[in-house]
Amino acid sequence: MAAAGRQAAPETALAYLELAAKFFAGRGVASARLDAELLLAEVLGTDRVGVYLRFDRPLGRSEVDAYRALVKRRGEGEPVAHLLGRREFWSRSFVVTPDVLVPRPETELVVERALAAVDAAGGRARRLRVLDLGTGSGALAVTLAVELPSAVVTAVDVSPAALAVAGRNAAALGVAARVRVVASDWTAALAAAARFDLVVGNPPYVPSPDLPHLPAEVRREPALALDGGADGLAAYRRIAVEAARVLAPGGTLVCEVGAGQAAAVAALFAAAGLGAVGRFTDLAGIERVVVGAAAGATAARAAS
Ligand SMILES: C[S@@+](CC[C@H](N)C(=O)[O-])C[C@H]1O[C@@H](n2cnc3c(N)ncnc32)[C@H](O)[C@@H]1O
Repeated sequence: MAAAGRQAAPETALAYLELAAKFFAGRGVASARLDAELLLAEVLGTDRVGVYLRFDRPLGRSEVDAYRALVKRRGEGEPVAHLLGRREFWSRSFVVTPDVLVPRPETELVVERALAAVDAAGGRARRLRVLDLGTGSGALAVTLAVELPSAVVTAVDVSPAALAVAGRNAAALGVAARVRVVASDWTAALAAAARFDLVVGNPPYVPSPDLPHLPAEVRREPALALDGGADGLAAYRRIAVEAARVLAPGGTLVCEVGAGQAAAVAALFAAAGLGAVGRFTDLAGIERVVVGAAAGATAARAAS
């Protein structure tokens, strides 16, 4: 960023913003302008709209220093969510640390399909038993607890550090009493008799050989959250079988999948005995979610 000369008037927020966006673009950051805005909003203690309203305002010395430090770290590959310590998901703010996957917009499709399944099967007010497999930040578990006011949610993860973050988010969003975090290798630590009306999951699905080729900022996220084994499908092989076992009659499994994995995951769901298997696309037309219903399903299928 240009240093202001002794006599020069301080540069405006807009000037610093544009410099940062250009710097990010030069570093190959896909969302260069957005990231520059989010970091400036943080420094100014406002949101993105607030940044627009302050375009002409000169930045003070401490603001310039703070912005420079954030811009430098972002340029070195740190995700914006790690720099800010939070990320929006389903219009709510979630605490994010390097111990968890940064919640992604495409994962909101899991929430959409899960709620559609609940609506089709009898409504949101019921006392549903929900299981979130690989909860990470708790994005899915906590969002569903908020959206389903009588639901009791079990959020499992194999990472105790991730569970601590999920617990913080459950407390911050007022649902700690209905979200139980459990350290478990998928369903292994759950009681044999535990049954769920809704099972959701966004398991690690990046094929191991692809991990070194991920963008630098994604590689900073926990390997446990990304590594899907040799073909990316290792977690689904277990989840299909284990979910089929723990789903209550009429229950639904809703899983996010990686691009190009939907057909293979749908086949795994069917092979595990799940019925009414459906595949759903995101706004970009990519199949992102696979849904399956337990035997005895009534209207659980979330037809689009
Ligand atoms: C892709 S992240 C998803 C996090 C969060 N649900 C979301 O959508 O943002 C996958 C999560 O699965 C967890 N995980 C990986 N292997 C697991 C296993 N064997 N049992 C339970 N959780 C596991 C990881 O620790 C990570 O938090």
